[in-house]
Amino acid sequence: MCSEKLDLARLNTGCRKNSWLVKTKDELDTIRSFEYQWKNLADSKYLISDETWRNNVDNYILDELGVTRDWIRGKTVIDVGCGGGRWTYGFVKLGCQVTALDVSEGPCNLIRKNVPQAEVVMTDLFELPKILRNRKFDIVWCWGVIHHTNNPHKAFDTLLGLMSEDSLLHLYVYSFNRGIRVKTLRWILGLFSINDRESIIRLLVRLGILHGSIHELFDSLSTQINHEIPETELRSWFEEHNLSYMHHTPQWSKTSRDLFVTGKKIGIKN
Ligand SMILES: C[S@@+](CC[C@H](N)C(=O)[O-])C[C@H]1O[C@@H](n2cnc3c(N)ncnc32)[C@H](O)[C@@H]1O
Repeated sequence: MCSEKLDLARLNTGCRKNSWLVKTKDELDTIRSFEYQWKNLADSKYLISDETWRNNVDNYILDELGVTRDWIRGKTVIDVGCGGGRWTYGFVKLGCQVTALDVSEGPCNLIRKNVPQAEVVMTDLFELPKILRNRKFDIVWCWGVIHHTNNPHKAFDTLLGLMSEDSLLHLYVYSFNRGIRVKTLRWILGLFSINDRESIIRLLVRLGILHGSIHELFDSLSTQINHEIPETELRSWFEEHNLSYMHHTPQWSKTSRDLFVTGKKIGIKN
């Protein structure tokens, strides 16, 4: 297997200079692709730069979690793989105390600028620093992240360590099969540098071959790790840890065929 060490310092993440995780070429490429995306393509519909998103994200969160505004006020939240901070923003708006975590500098800088109320921790979720390892959060929110790692099940297990007995865990994960066209395009784009991928996507949009926002297209086509997790498998991870499994497709994304799942510990197993 082609593997390389993740030098967080080289990715300019700064905070964990002694961290040397062994990462595959595809994992590094995926992390760098996100780093590029949040630095260069951070303005788009459904992101923090979108006024409609900012006006409604609090309601989207309440819908996804199935909780009330009164219940959520004052809760502690960790937004794992926070990206540009669109969810962090929403939780702050709802009166939560939010810790936003991401592996690279691009997203962390965006959050610092856009949501200064949040605590920002730049780290790999597979290697949580001491300041997080012993902390528990009322809500562990991980939206669109674990399917982009080499080991989604291990990522899931890491999230459990951030939960107390009463916490909610919320995940959005890829599940439906994107099909051969998308997978071939991803593979072809992977042969090019990350900068070139943006130019190629822009060209394909100009030629009418691709449709949609450059951010969304880049997000779904440039990243090289995109696991599709069957619902039976995801459900078995929840059951393994005695978590309830509540699947609810939110209104704001009602045509999605992926999984939006909330879980909570349901007691000690005999
Ligand atoms: C598809 S984006 C989702 C961002 C955000 N949750 C949202 O919904 O807008 C995935 C994010 O996960 C982060 N990520 C990927 N692997 C990670 C890891 N091992 N540790 C921490 N963050 C990671 C990426 O940097 C990226 O910002």
